[in-house]
Amino acid sequence: MVDWSAGEYERTAAELEPAARHVVALAALLPGDGVLDLACGTGNAALLAAAAGARVTGLDGARRLIEVAHGRAAAAGVDAKFVVGDALDLPFDDGSFEVVVSVFGVIFAPDPARAVEEILRVLVPGGRALLAVWRPEGPVHEEVGVLARGIAEAGGPSRPPFAWHDPDAVRALPALDGARVDAEDAELTIERSSPEAYFAEGEAYHPMSIAGRPILERAGTYPRLREEALDTLRAGNQDPDGFRITSPYRVLRLTRAG
Ligand SMILES: C[S@@+](CC[C@H](N)C(=O)[O-])C[C@H]1O[C@@H](n2cnc3c(N)ncnc32)[C@H](O)[C@@H]1O
Repeated sequence: MVDWSAGEYERTAAELEPAARHVVALAALLPGDGVLDLACGTGNAALLAAAAGARVTGLDGARRLIEVAHGRAAAAGVDAKFVVGDALDLPFDDGSFEVVVSVFGVIFAPDPARAVEEILRVLVPGGRALLAVWRPEGPVHEEVGVLARGIAEAGGPSRPPFAWHDPDAVRALPALDGARVDAEDAELTIERSSPEAYFAEGEAYHPMSIAGRPILERAGTYPRLREEALDTLRAGNQDPDGFRITSPYRVLRLTRAG
């Protein structure tokens, strides 16, 4: 189980902010729209939506990140509410929001079918959800895959194998109930001084590394898998003088039946 309050997720959130901008732009918000930023982390999308004049609520399971999001909203002078909660049991009435956004957030919920059911429940009829999900391609996908396979082999937790990137898999969920699913592709660029610097930063600060590394250390596989994971980053590096990689993602648009 990943404790998203551990470490310093803020660093990754800063890296993901362009994707939050993309998702909020696609949401085409109108002033006064009720927006839920689901699994909001430090509130990237929530802050952008609030600055666009929406009535925003951010929800996340990690109490520390909710406190960070709250502090960021206060510092930016934008009005947004933040609550600790579970994507699988949203503390909101049916039809509470015109828009739900989730930037690489709800994909971490352990029961995707239930998560989508909850999203559609809290949307008004005709409301829209914009969900940024990773496509299973690129150096970061391969890096994470090396470590995740090692963790599963060591008896640690494995992620639910749901293909969030596949619109047909989402369309097949029973909760869809006539909702329409569209998709748009994009890429996120990540830059650092070197592959080693990028990996070391994740190792020290990312909640997933903090949760997974002790499992691999106990199994005695960490040094080998660390090198293998680093090799995937080196192989994908597009900048011979530093480190630049691109991570492909997709924004799913779910439109609730009217
Ligand atoms: C990769 S972070 C994304 C955070 C944020 N959306 C962003 O753009 O930086 C994943 C987030 O999902 C949250 N999360 C995971 N499972 C959750 C659940 N079942 N309910 C609520 N939040 C959850 C974590 O606490 C974490 O903040």
